[in-house]
Amino acid sequence: MELFESKFKEAMISKVPLLNRITHYIVRRKGKQMRPMFVFLVAKMVSDGDFNERTYRGASIIELIHTATLVHDDVVDDSNRRRGFFSLNALWKNKIAVLVGDFLLSKGLLLSIDNDDFDILKLISIAVREMSEGELLQIEKARKLDITEDIYFDIIRQKTATLIAACCGIGAASVGSDDREIEKMRIFGELIGIAFQIKDDLFDYSEEKIGKPTGIDIKEKKMTLPLIYTLNNCDPKEKKWLINSVKNHNRNPKRVKEVIAFVKEKGGIEYTTTKMQDYQRDALKILESYKDSEYKDSLVKMVNYVIERKI
Ligand code: IPE
Ligand code: IPE
Ligand code: MG
Ligand code: MG
Repeated sequence: MELFESKFKEAMISKVPLLNRITHYIVRRKGKQMRPMFVFLVAKMVSDGDFNERTYRGASIIELIHTATLVHDDVVDDSNRRRGFFSLNALWKNKIAVLVGDFLLSKGLLLSIDNDDFDILKLISIAVREMSEGELLQIEKARKLDITEDIYFDIIRQKTATLIAACCGIGAASVGSDDREIEKMRIFGELIGIAFQIKDDLFDYSEEKIGKPTGIDIKEKKMTLPLIYTLNNCDPKEKKWLINSVKNHNRNPKRVKEVIAFVKEKGGIEYTTTKMQDYQRDALKILESYKDSEYKDSLVKMVNYVIERKI
């Protein structure tokens, strides 16, 4: 990871001083770096400890794209905190955040192109397309407030799980796995990614200090699984009150707190947690087909971390 970090930093260099100041800021406030870890561990598990420069590049590309999407996501969500500090849009405003996101995206794609990693480029480009579609579908549903559980899963698969799927697919591809194995690892990552986003959505219902705002999903009219479940499991009068709260009182902190309390009372959190654990179990099942190794052990720990993490 130390080596990865220096390569990742290098991949962001620009001739524009403002960009370098901003990327310096980004590198200093690094995240969990879970995605590159998945790239490395999958590469090592499927090849008995083998990995190479392509694996490093794959990991850098993923983290560049991930960072780009976070920068854009904070503009989209109008969120002023990220990784325990100000978001880019909070410090430099939306105009600059949009352009920095584009810069990071192009740097990621070029890292593949310049090294003829076209298999990796394909996996990553699919993920980028899906993420944009997922974020847009989410906005559409926030406007119409007509989300269902199926659509919720479509959204989180697209906006979050495809990138983690790409991590695991790229890890395998980087060490020369065949298409069948790349696809198997992609599905493994997709399951983890869905569980990961469910966990993120659960955080929003808590008051834990996670380095970014909580309680903002309802404010943004984002209806996630705890609320969707509650809407489907309450009487018509309560349902009307819930929809009206999200539609017309979403910027009223007291009302949002009441909605959160109602969701908790109706068992929305328990239901959502059970669903998350279903995905965790399915992901772990895929690992069972691999022979025991320290890499597999670490992947099991990573899968469990996705569910149990505190930030
Ligand atoms: C945040 O991802 C975005 C989501 C998909 C929920 P992470 O929680 O992995 O972000 P960092 O990189 O650790 O900050
Ligand atoms: C995840 O969406 C971010 C992306 C997939 C780009 P959220 O908006 O739910 O994530 P956080 O909570 O801001 O990290
Ligand atoms: Mg968002
Ligand atoms: Mg967000």
